[in-house]
Amino acid sequence: MRTNTVCLLSIILTVCLLLGSLPPAQGQTTQARIKIDTDRTIGEIHPHLFGNFAEHLGRMIYGGVYEEGSPLSDKDGYRKDVMDVVKQLNVSILRWPGGNFASGYNWKDGIGPKDQRPVRKDLAWDDLESNRFGTDEFLKYCEMIGAEPYICINAGLGTIDDARHWVEYCNESKNTFWAEQRRKNGREQPYKVKYWALGNEIDGPWQLGHKNAEEYSKFALEAAKAMRSTDPSIKLIASGSSNYGANADWMHWNRTVLNTLRNQADYIAIHSYINNRDNDFEKFMAWSQTIDNYIDVTASQIKEAQNRLQNPRPIYIAYDEWNVWYRAYNAQKLEEVYNFEDALAMGMFFNSFFRRADVVKMANLAQMVNVIAPITTNKQGLFLQTIYFPLVEFTRQKGNQSLDTFVSAPTYKVGNRPPLKYLDVSTSYNAADKTIYVNVLNRSKDKDMTTRIDNQEGQLTNAVGVWELNHPDLKATHTFGDDKKVRPVTRNITATVENNGFNYTFPAHSLTILRLRLK
Ligand code: AHR
Repeated sequence: MRTNTVCLLSIILTVCLLLGSLPPAQGQTTQARIKIDTDRTIGEIHPHLFGNFAEHLGRMIYGGVYEEGSPLSDKDGYRKDVMDVVKQLNVSILRWPGGNFASGYNWKDGIGPKDQRPVRKDLAWDDLESNRFGTDEFLKYCEMIGAEPYICINAGLGTIDDARHWVEYCNESKNTFWAEQRRKNGREQPYKVKYWALGNEIDGPWQLGHKNAEEYSKFALEAAKAMRSTDPSIKLIASGSSNYGANADWMHWNRTVLNTLRNQADYIAIHSYINNRDNDFEKFMAWSQTIDNYIDVTASQIKEAQNRLQNPRPIYIAYDEWNVWYRAYNAQKLEEVYNFEDALAMGMFFNSFFRRADVVKMANLAQMVNVIAPITTNKQGLFLQTIYFPLVEFTRQKGNQSLDTFVSAPTYKVGNRPPLKYLDVSTSYNAADKTIYVNVLNRSKDKDMTTRIDNQEGQLTNAVGVWELNHPDLKATHTFGDDKKVRPVTRNITATVENNGFNYTFPAHSLTILRLRLK
């Protein structure tokens, strides 16, 4: 009798366990919990996490931000309609001139009277470069949109002299040769360009002037010394490996670069392009595991390089190329058309950056206009791609403190990787206006998640602002004259706050930002 009861109980237990591990049926809600503590700060969400990237590639510069003679442009050739929507993106720092383009670019071709500038072959993208948009045009553009300029030197086919002369042209106040050239070209005051990348993806065999880790590190160290002697106030970004998973040597690359440059570099760069090639939404949304991993591993490598130093120079991560990119390559000039699920991926990247706000201090979406970009132009106007809207919204959290937040939620698995929570979460706190931001990506394709949100420090008010991006069709896209489909909705709700917490349901496949107020 007793044996039968034990048997029955164990069968019931097994069935329950099996049922528990099955995904809930469509439409069924599941409980999750987010516990916020404003004392548990990770680091400042640096304004430079909202950077962007403008490469001489396809229609990014010419026909994108710059189109001489267009009725939509100002007298200098800057597209005014593009500038308006770029300004709303709140781009804090703009990387230029590449990318792969940088490794074949001679900046001296792009200064002086425009009609005397040489047309050159762009070997990186198999194109022609008119050089009508050069250093002065770029730096003026940055001033117009209120972005910090970030210049990438040519560490491929270029020389150390080219690099230090570029710093001198931009930043020197004395009467030196290159400062005089700048003055002749109409700019008396130095531009004070603070951020300089020591090349782009030099580990990649596709890169002009590709080098191995030792060759690159030696070049970058000497370039750094010469550039810093020219202007000691500059910040330098070393090229990290651009090929994490694919390249067996990436650990060696980063270690060599960090060990060699640890007394010169202020950042090490990471690049990631993610894709949904398998057309599997939940797998696509699991890319955050990879992004988190890149950040964690690189952060550890930084620590390793600083290990035995008495007074190590702080080194941060510049995630200076990131985006979804897998449909439009060279033949399409990288003119990717983004859909709704790609817009959700923007939230995934920011959540990862915010969770490591202690070490990720710069991030640049690649890129800004036409080329894998949130803005697409033609000669008559432009449209806003689906990814534009979360990019704008996340910038509101710049300067906040990122918070280490407890999250429990049902999980799923991708291959052999560890289980992954359906809710991908980051939170931040603005102490000045006592506002907490809760950024939640529900990466379940079909399950809403009813979630208990608890607050530990300070009393929640019941006023909650909601920003939500959702659409029934994961593949919905925008085009000219039709860019209103995938738009965020905002509302203010009155939450039923009990014991300093409340319940909120995050819809399936959605990105939500809740704004909570403390008393
Ligand atoms: O952003 C497009 C290209 O991707 C960049 O030129 C290069 O750095 C990366 O491989």
